[in-house]
Amino acid sequence: MANLRISRRNFIGSIAAGAAVLPLSNYHWAYPSKTAALSEKKVDWGYPEGAVRLNANENPYGPSPNALAAMEKALSQGHRYTRATQLTKELASYHGVSTDMVLTGCGSTEFLRIAPWAFLRDGGELVTTLQTFKTLPREAKKIGASVNEIPLDKNFYFDLQSIKKALTPKTKMVYLVNPNNPTGTRHDFEAIQNFCASLPKTIIVFIDEAYSHFLEDKKGRDGITLIKQGYNVIVSRTFSKVYGLAGMRLGYAIADPSIIKELRAFGFGNMGINQAVFAGGLASLEDEKHIQKYKELVKEGQEYFYNQFDSLGLKYIPSTTPFLMVKLNMASKVAQKKLVSKNVFVRKGEDWQMPSYLRITMGFPEENKTCISTLKKVLNL
Ligand SMILES: Cc1ncc(COP(=O)(O)O)c(C=O)c1O
Repeated sequence: MANLRISRRNFIGSIAAGAAVLPLSNYHWAYPSKTAALSEKKVDWGYPEGAVRLNANENPYGPSPNALAAMEKALSQGHRYTRATQLTKELASYHGVSTDMVLTGCGSTEFLRIAPWAFLRDGGELVTTLQTFKTLPREAKKIGASVNEIPLDKNFYFDLQSIKKALTPKTKMVYLVNPNNPTGTRHDFEAIQNFCASLPKTIIVFIDEAYSHFLEDKKGRDGITLIKQGYNVIVSRTFSKVYGLAGMRLGYAIADPSIIKELRAFGFGNMGINQAVFAGGLASLEDEKHIQKYKELVKEGQEYFYNQFDSLGLKYIPSTTPFLMVKLNMASKVAQKKLVSKNVFVRKGEDWQMPSYLRITMGFPEENKTCISTLKKVLNL
């Protein structure tokens, strides 16, 4: 009690001392003006002003208007932790699976990073392709798993025969990206199905379907079908691409409940999802028009680039995805550096052991045009 009295006296004393230095009224104006200054601060998005961003396979349209409205509304729930129960239910019904076969996460990256922890942490072996998305193989290497990266065939498709030959009794996982990033090639469903059928039950096939909307005739010819057919498959999907929510972070995995249980043990669970994207994701699922609009933009972009490359005499890999690869007459890392210095951002193929290729994301028509005109200058064409 005595202590309490002393501290209260000190506290009141210090307020009085403060008030003597600065009139209380000053605090009233100081607080709001400080927050206003912060909220008006220009945000640095990490790129120079006017940058043409064709390097990260983002959807230039952004979120659908429905998703934007839903996210804006959800911001008022920003003080609450998210429960993804409804989203899990909707995704399960959307894909015709049970809710215990769905796990939502902070982008599909979450699953690419936790799958090695769940299934390869005690010395397992991963077999994958050399020219593919690197997050999962990189994580596997980090935790000490051995990773065997099999080159794509000469047409940039999976070499499933060589992958099969590379399997050993220690192999626990095969990672395939379909359609593949960076090549944009889409592997035949039946070939993947036969491959899965030929594997022992001890091997999980992780199929990364970040670009699932670009799987032709996707109903019944995707990784989720293989799961329904009883194959030992994990599929990861994302809201980052066709739904335009890359910066909001939402993805999910679908697999047998026993596999989902293992993954869940390493994931963020509800803590990896924010209220806004939870609502935005739900709204996006329903906006077929927005998806269609983006697909048309991608098709238009592909045709534009193909025509340009044909007339410039540059070879390219025909793509099924919102990005494509073009072969240059110089090292792509040199070309990329020059393009970046002119504010055009693309990816160098060196990142996937394809040193003479550039990977370009389909942007708006004017961005695609800027990319081509700048590339011509860089290549002296
Ligand atoms: C094949 C592939 N998988 C996964 C990802 C990561 O996506 P997310 O934003 O869902 O983490 C990407 C992103 O570019 C990708 O290309």
